[in-house]
Amino acid sequence: MTHSVALDGKVAIVTGAASGIGEAIAKAYLSAGAKVVAADLTAPRIDGSPDALLSLVCDVTDDDAPARLCGAAANAFGGLDILVNNAGVCLPGSIEDQSLEDWEKTFAINVTAPFRTSQAAIPMLKERGGGRIINLGSIMSEFGGPGLCAYGTSKHAVAGLSKGMAADLGKYGITVNYLQPGSIWSGMSRPFMADADFRKYWESKAPMGRIGDPEDVAAAALFLATDGSRFVSGAGIRVCGGAMSTF
Ligand SMILES: NC(=O)c1ccc[n+]([C@@H]2O[C@H](COP(=O)([O-])OP(=O)(O)OC[C@H]3O[C@@H](n4cnc5c(N)ncnc54)[C@H](O)[C@@H]3O)[C@@H](O)[C@H]2O)c1
Repeated sequence: MTHSVALDGKVAIVTGAASGIGEAIAKAYLSAGAKVVAADLTAPRIDGSPDALLSLVCDVTDDDAPARLCGAAANAFGGLDILVNNAGVCLPGSIEDQSLEDWEKTFAINVTAPFRTSQAAIPMLKERGGGRIINLGSIMSEFGGPGLCAYGTSKHAVAGLSKGMAADLGKYGITVNYLQPGSIWSGMSRPFMADADFRKYWESKAPMGRIGDPEDVAAAALFLATDGSRFVSGAGIRVCGGAMSTF
């Protein structure tokens, strides 16, 4: 049996690709031979030939965002094989002080946008005879954490959405999985990492002894996009250096 690790001929959409994990995933997919629509609030600045890379300014919560993202993949590259719902925000707040506005914004970006974008992508994936949907969950898809009420709830919802979609879409050859990064260097985590105690806690909690890099998560996203993951669906994959497997 041969296992292809390349993404030659595949077309991917990656949201939140101007920074951190999304940027690393878009680069990994390009390096593996995919054509990529890289979208974010500001145009992602990734090196790539226009034959393989389309940078799109797109707020994933806009009404027309799902149609724009999928239309861009169809017009530029003729179809869609892989959707990575990566764009996300982390607006801190405990149950006592999280504002309703932040709660709703968190859900609009972290949960409703993946739901709507996936709905728009499904007909295109079916046209190809199958495909991949990869959502960005978190270790907080399984655990709570202080001061992260809306974020943690939204990432639990990403787990539920992924499992529900996996159940509905397996018959079309579409797999749906979610990644569960631990503490990863990125724009989102920078304010938390500025607290030396926070950083040291996560460095020492991970048996690997370090904070993760966006490329660590991109490597797992690459696996989930390739043929090698063809029988993996509805799964959450922790990319946390073992932090959540120890106490
Ligand atoms: N960094 C971590 O430690 C960590 C841990 C677990 C999960 N995650 C998840 O990984 C994903 C990527 O986060 P990151 O750490 O790379 O953070 P990041 O802030 O570096 O990147 C997130 C990107 O999403 C974009 N974005 C935000 N709102 C958007 C919108 N409405 N429309 C389009 N794009 C939007 C931002 O502009 C940004 O470029 C998120 O879903 C996050 O929850 C990150």
